[in-house]
Parts: sequence; C-alpha cells; structure tokens
Amino acid sequence: MNTQLIQDVKNKYIENFKTEPLLIFSPGRINIIGEHTDYNDGFVFPAAVNKGIAAAIQKSDSNISTAYALDKNSKIEFDLNQIKPSKEGSWQNYVFGVVAEIQNRNKVIGNFNIVFKGNIPGGAGMSSSAALENSVVFGLNELFNLELSKEDMIYISQKAEHNYVGVNCGIMDQYASMFGIKDNALHLDCRSLKSTPHKIDFKDHQLMLINTNVKHQLSDSAYNDRRSACESISELLGIKALRDATEGDLKSIEDQVTPENYQKALYVIQENERTEKAAQAIEDNDLETLGQLIYASHNGLQHQYKVSCEELDFLVDQAKANKQVLGARMMGGGFGGCTINLISKTEAEAFAETTSKAYKKAFNKDCSVYFIELSQGTHIVEL
Ligand code: GLA
Repeated sequence: MNTQLIQDVKNKYIENFKTEPLLIFSPGRINIIGEHTDYNDGFVFPAAVNKGIAAAIQKSDSNISTAYALDKNSKIEFDLNQIKPSKEGSWQNYVFGVVAEIQNRNKVIGNFNIVFKGNIPGGAGMSSSAALENSVVFGLNELFNLELSKEDMIYISQKAEHNYVGVNCGIMDQYASMFGIKDNALHLDCRSLKSTPHKIDFKDHQLMLINTNVKHQLSDSAYNDRRSACESISELLGIKALRDATEGDLKSIEDQVTPENYQKALYVIQENERTEKAAQAIEDNDLETLGQLIYASHNGLQHQYKVSCEELDFLVDQAKANKQVLGARMMGGGFGGCTINLISKTEAEAFAETTSKAYKKAFNKDCSVYFIELSQGTHIVEL
C-alpha cells in the first residue's frame, strides 16, 4: 500500500480542515497492447498499477469548496454554483470537470474539500489524470450518496476530460483505473465495456516501464486529430467505428483518403487484431509471440499512426538490441511518456542500467525505470 502517500494527504487534510477525511486511492494504469484502439470501439489490454493518486475528501459546512494539489502546493477555492473551465488550464480542470459532469446528470452535491497527491509523474502516459478524475467522482459519490455505478463514474471522468481538459480521450484509462484487479490485466472490449481479467504471471519474465521523462508539445491536439481522422474514415465506410472495418474494406476506399490517413486506419485495424492475438498468447503463456506483437505495435505507432518520438524509439531500439527483452513499445497517447518492456527477470536490472546510461548519453537527460505491480482499482483505504 502507498501508506506514506496516503498519510501525507490525510495529515494535510486534518491540518487544513480539522476533520477526519475519507481516504481514497485511485491507480494509474499500464497497457500491455491495444493503443489508440479504445476510441475506435476496439480492444485494449490495460491493468491498474500500484502507483496513482491518494485523495483525502470530506463534506464542508462552508459556502465554498476547496481543492488542494499537494504536489504542486497549489490550493483553490471555488463556488459549486459557478463551475466553469479555468483558463489557466492545468490540474483544477480535472476537478471542475468532474463536478460539472455530476451536476449535468442532475445529481446534487454539497460543498467539499479535497487534498490529493500522486506518485505518477504527469506526462508519463500512465493516466494520472484518469486517476485524479476517478478519485474525485468516487469520493463525491460516496459522500453525497449519488448512487452512481462504476460505469457512470468512468463516463463522468471521461466527459470531464473531453469538456474541461479538451482531450477527446477514449475510455481505457478511466476503466482500468476504476475496475483494476490485483495481479490481473483486463482484456477490454471498449464497445460493450465488458472485460475479461487475465492473471499476469510471466514466470521468469516481467513487465518494466521506462519513462523518457519528456512530453512533447501539441500532443493533445495531435491526439484529437488522430481521433477525427479515424472518425471520418468510419463515416466514409458507413460504419460506426473502425472496429467494424477489415483491411479489405479499407482497401476499397483507398483512393478517397490521403495515404497518411490510410496508414492510420490500417494501423487501428491491425492493432485491434494484435490485441486479440495477444490475449490468446497470454492464455497460452506464449511470451515469444506476445513480445513480437508488442514490437509490432510499436512499429505501427511509430511509422503508421505517427505518435511516437525520438526518445521512445531510442528506448525501443535499445530493447530490440537485447535478446532478453521479448517486446517493447511506447505506451499511452504517445509523444513522450513510458515504454513498456517484457523482459527476463534476471536481465531487468542490468538492462535498466545500460539503457539509462545510453539514454543519458544520447539526450543528455535521465530516463526513469519503474517496476510495477498490478493492483486493485479505485477504492477506499483505511490506515
Ligand atoms: C490516452 C487516452 C486513452 C487512449 C490512449 C491511447 O491515454 O486517454 O483513451 O486512447 O491514449 O491508447
């Protein structure tokens, strides 16, 4: 458990608001495979991890609400009757967005105070934003008996991101953070929102993340552009989403789309297929095949979908040069953040060390290595 993190938010809460708060831990996520498929109604393979956001939250008798981002040492007060996106952007829009989306569903909440702190660096591609949104909606649901289901809550979190943050994200991050199961990854159908948990025990192999510690500008607009391109191709094909297309269907409209967009749609169709194959490979404990699918996913993200960057490609090339790494790829939205690596346990430390040195030499900055555990979704904690 992230005892220290939780203790920190609790102490700060009591120091500021003099009452006992409700404590919540909301995890970030990894994704084994299935990238940029969620908003195409496709398949993904995420898992919640033991890193995320700890929140202390409680009702307030005051006529104002307060949110305190402990990491940034930044505190804001706001009036629940006048919620609107903050122009400065940044973290408060995740809180405001969730409040507004709850209100949009005609649910009534009273004033509250929240203190939160995380241990996922922003921009790592591990969904600290979904973790934050989920912690807020989960806490408010509990305190004000809103009777929201977990599904309702993740749609509220997602809408907050669309309408207050401006990223037209899919549902993977919010789902994984809310529904995570300890030691399992979730093979999720983003259309039906049904998932099959797969116990992840790779025996003498493990998953390891390496954070490039970069987040390139314009990644949000590039994300939204990709989504629009996929939607316009679906429209041309007369289908609901690219999940319903085959490579043959796409070929039939090749002359009506740009070569760039053709490759993007092709990537989505192929990544969906890879995700299904990966589920089978995990079932069969066939790690060689899983690793190859992971490398192929990166290849598509780099060359077809074009959401990678130099730093991510460098880390994947380092992995490819080491036979003990069965697969590696960029993870999440792209343009920075982490790679996920499937590596033999005995090689992990050595690979982390040599790669860190090489990365420093190439980019004159440090990367960070994370060994993660697959964990439970958003939940109440007691110290
Ligand atoms: C971000 C979004 C997700 C998903 C991934 C890419 O994390 O929030 O919905 O689209 O990018 O797979």
